[in-house]
Amino acid sequence: MLDAEVRELMQPFVLSDYQVQEVYSRFCLEVARGLKRSTHPQANVKCFPTYVQDLPTGDEMGKFLALDLGGTNFRVLLVSLKGHHDATVSSQIYAVPKDLMVGPGVELFDHIAGCLAKFVEKHDMKTAYLPLGFTFSFPCVQLGLKEGLLVRWTKGFDCPGVEGEDVGRMLHEAIQRRGDADIAVVAILNDTTGTLMSCAHRNADCRVGVIVGTGCNACYVEDVENVDLLHADFKKTKRQVIVNAEWGAFGEGGQLEFVRTEYDREVDEKSINRSEQLFEKMTAGMYLGNLVRLVLLRALERKLIFKQSSRRPEFASVLQKNQEVFETRYISEIEDDSFPEFASTRKIVKQLFGLEKASVEDCQTLRYICECVAKRAATLVAIGVSGLVNRTSNRRVIVGMDGSVYRYHPKFDSYMRQILQKLVKADKEWDIMLSEDGSGRGAALVAAVASKSK
Ligand code: GLC
Repeated sequence: MLDAEVRELMQPFVLSDYQVQEVYSRFCLEVARGLKRSTHPQANVKCFPTYVQDLPTGDEMGKFLALDLGGTNFRVLLVSLKGHHDATVSSQIYAVPKDLMVGPGVELFDHIAGCLAKFVEKHDMKTAYLPLGFTFSFPCVQLGLKEGLLVRWTKGFDCPGVEGEDVGRMLHEAIQRRGDADIAVVAILNDTTGTLMSCAHRNADCRVGVIVGTGCNACYVEDVENVDLLHADFKKTKRQVIVNAEWGAFGEGGQLEFVRTEYDREVDEKSINRSEQLFEKMTAGMYLGNLVRLVLLRALERKLIFKQSSRRPEFASVLQKNQEVFETRYISEIEDDSFPEFASTRKIVKQLFGLEKASVEDCQTLRYICECVAKRAATLVAIGVSGLVNRTSNRRVIVGMDGSVYRYHPKFDSYMRQILQKLVKADKEWDIMLSEDGSGRGAALVAAVASKSK
């Protein structure tokens, strides 16, 4: 049985029906404000037009390179689109050293171009002409399909000299500086767009793409007449455009203050992008482990966990060491564990604190803390998804999803469905599908669809 005091500790993370409805209304309002020219500058859900106006048909063919920058890893991919909704992908992961994440932008792009050159050499494609789709998963103002100005860094990146610049040009210049491959940057896209495109390749009803990984964001298909920021030329022949919501920034205008907890405020205050990306800080993998860490510290202080142990001060100092000691993946592992064995939970407790055989009660408390933090994240994500699904003009809407939190958390999907059931309009038919390699296949599809429409 869980202690009443543990329940009370976690109460601020449990959203009431009223709070869910209120966040939903505020979110919908912010999306509308982001789309309108007059309110866009003040809006925090920016709703940037992506210039992707064609969804894939499944017939796309050809070889494409793709780059994926924006999460924990950086990847280079070679994608062969084979028609008949089919594709093969071969890829290589490269680390982005911590110092490059906050060092001069030019060095970051040189590193990317260097990895790209190695990859092309390894695949024996040095002499081939290769179109490249660049999945750059940060907020960008797109000026066209292959021009994107970085608005600001998120997710722990902070490289001077890139904000306000065209990242397509910066990548192109870095490739030129090396001069050892014939690669053309033909499209810049967000990872949410890649997710939507790769799911639409499989299922023609996909209209929303969502990432819950290191960061958290979504895009959706909007009617062009509602997108004030899209240049008139792009409204003449096409009816729709993918809009990158950049919902991670939701709450920066104070809309979430009524649900943010003291732990959310501390996560924000100790982050490198203070007062920014407040919705993201409640939902994304980069922050969820840190939230659990802070709650655990409070639980230790109040003697709500490890009550029998005299080593509590020592456990607290382990948790104080750094913000990353309690990894977000532990949340998934703990919620996946079986009662009353708690094999994974005990392993994690042992690894963190050196405590042999944690009691069943301690494991339950730890699990409850993780559950509340993850369930709130899933609830918030589902509120946003519902808002976007309800905006689309289709009756049937598939939501394409990706990201490590969604993929590996055993209950994230079902937590989300509970909320979608309540908030999505009754006349809509919806479902969620897991994306297969949005950043690779999706980038190739954007590149392919772009060359086709030309
Ligand atoms: C951050 C970025 C956004 C991206 C998301 C998921 O929120 O700003 O562009 O889509 O992370 O990677």
